[in-house]
Amino acid sequence: MNAVTTTARPDPSREGAAPEGAAAPSDSPARARVRTPAGSLRSEHAGSTVLVDGWVQRRRDHGELVFIDLRDRSGLLQVVFDAQFLPSPDLLARAKELRSEFVVEVEGEVVSREGDAINDDLPTGHVELRASRLEILSRSETPPFPIEDGVRASEDLRLKYRYLDLRRPEMSRNFVRRSDVTYRIRQVLHEEGFLEVETPILTKSTPEGARDFLVPSRVHPGEFYALPQSPQLFKQLLMVSGMERYYQIARCFRDEDLRADRQPEFTQVDLELSFPSEETVFALVEKLFAAVFPPSGIPCPTPFPRMTWAEATERFGIDRPDTRFGLELRTLDLSSSPSEVLRSAPRAKGIAVPGGAAFARKRLDDLETAAKSLGAGGLVWIKLQGDLPGGFNSNAKKLLDEATLAGIRSTLSAKDGDLVLVVAGKEKTVNDVLASLRVQLAREEKLIPAGRFDFLWVTEFPLLEWHEDDRRWYATHHPFTSPRAEDLPFLESDPGRVKARAYDVVLNGMELGGGSIRIHQPEVQSRVFATLGIGPEEARAKFGFLLDAFRYGAPPHGGLALGLDRMLMVLSGAASIRDVIAFPKTASGSCLMTDSPGPVSEDQLRELGIAHAPGVRAPKG
Ligand code: AMO
Repeated sequence: MNAVTTTARPDPSREGAAPEGAAAPSDSPARARVRTPAGSLRSEHAGSTVLVDGWVQRRRDHGELVFIDLRDRSGLLQVVFDAQFLPSPDLLARAKELRSEFVVEVEGEVVSREGDAINDDLPTGHVELRASRLEILSRSETPPFPIEDGVRASEDLRLKYRYLDLRRPEMSRNFVRRSDVTYRIRQVLHEEGFLEVETPILTKSTPEGARDFLVPSRVHPGEFYALPQSPQLFKQLLMVSGMERYYQIARCFRDEDLRADRQPEFTQVDLELSFPSEETVFALVEKLFAAVFPPSGIPCPTPFPRMTWAEATERFGIDRPDTRFGLELRTLDLSSSPSEVLRSAPRAKGIAVPGGAAFARKRLDDLETAAKSLGAGGLVWIKLQGDLPGGFNSNAKKLLDEATLAGIRSTLSAKDGDLVLVVAGKEKTVNDVLASLRVQLAREEKLIPAGRFDFLWVTEFPLLEWHEDDRRWYATHHPFTSPRAEDLPFLESDPGRVKARAYDVVLNGMELGGGSIRIHQPEVQSRVFATLGIGPEEARAKFGFLLDAFRYGAPPHGGLALGLDRMLMVLSGAASIRDVIAFPKTASGSCLMTDSPGPVSEDQLRELGIAHAPGVRAPKG
């Protein structure tokens, strides 16, 4: 017998098993034969005898002729049970028993298909396997949805039966890719001298801005571990340890509101280097991306363009701009508007939508509703239509005199037929609202060129952000980010002007990763803590171990973390992060398959010294 390809080995765990309906005894010679991946068979294999294992995708019964499509991870193969060629009639009877998702082992001869029998849609479509032996290794109930691409089952059903969902070829492909990508990343980082080091999962809170998931300690009643939001502090400590180059494919946990590109547990490609400059980090990440994106057909020309945070927020209203299309924001001068509201707004910005003068009233109302839901007081729309009196129509005609309108037109280079949208108010609100409308309109108006991938570095983030609600400064990234040396003198006197040595890598408007050069001098770290309102005692209680470590010769260091799941979303063209995570959580943080989170027993709680809070769901049973 010629085994065609031998990438898969016989599974030793199945040796000696005698599945129901088995044709051959478990110690038959067939056991020793090598399994061939079903999807690997081609015309050149015609004439070989092979053994394949897999799932029945479907069965077609033509009486003396039974066909099954056999599926394994490598693809689909047509198997034919032809009464003319079968060693016993019993075999045909057993083929007729087969149902979708039965697990079978088939042995037979690869034969060429001719003429109309050829299926050009399948890579194996020029051959079929003429069966001479069949073992039913496992039977299946009717699955809750068909195991095929483009399935129309609800996502909840797919998540409840995730193990079946993952059998579908389009899902299985995502995980083959995921494995290839992590393999390539490990390879590149290994070649670049990085050490893969694991850091604790049961740890102390790391301040990355989200809520922690807490784990109660049984041995220390009333005390908790936190699951890491990232390995940030440990990787910095590894630099103090002299590891010089660290990486980890690290699980991170953040209790935050979920979106299409967020999960409560996710994976980072986390890295840190000693003695780096920003350029070292940029070159490394570009090298990693160049190894990972092109094999999936995504061009990745390096070096990536760069844009400062100030330019990104001014032109796009956001620090992760999608630069594949225009619709850029411009600051408007409304100081001569007849409207007090517009004149006195701290900031006014607008965008011009080509051809938008044709939008129906309902669409404009929807845009205004969207703007208000994002915090805007209102949305001024102006349709530039030369044939109308004054050349325009607007929901705010009275607020626009001729000079103001002319100013808006010229600032936005808006033409007849365009729609102008203006938002006035606090700078952050104006930017948030217009950034969101910009992307929404680009999608609706199909302004985003297909097949375009814009990688971008965003640099020079502000070190700190002022939060008006609790009137204090927060770290834009995290408190260990180094200020630029030239801005250090202003840390106490004018914290808002201090820029950080931080950077994000953005692809098509999605933040794929972020990092910074860190503080490595204890006195600078203390000053940053003080500006953040973290006093010496609190700093000691929370990060004493890091401050201590810095007293013993900390090298300058810096790094970054990439969101592996987000990268895979792009590489797989997936609309949801859930499609690239084997067992993801729903938008409300549940696992529908294991039904977690779930209640625990009173005994478990007692052991942990935890009392049920009033109103909390009591444990089952
Ligand atoms: P940051 O918080 O920016 O940085 O995270 C780095 C990257 O991780 C991904 N990411 C997520 N992916 C899925 N679900 C989430 N909930 C989620 N949150 C973040 C993003 C993001 O760009 N310790 C720093 C890195 C550093 O400074 O080196 C950190 O964690 O792609």
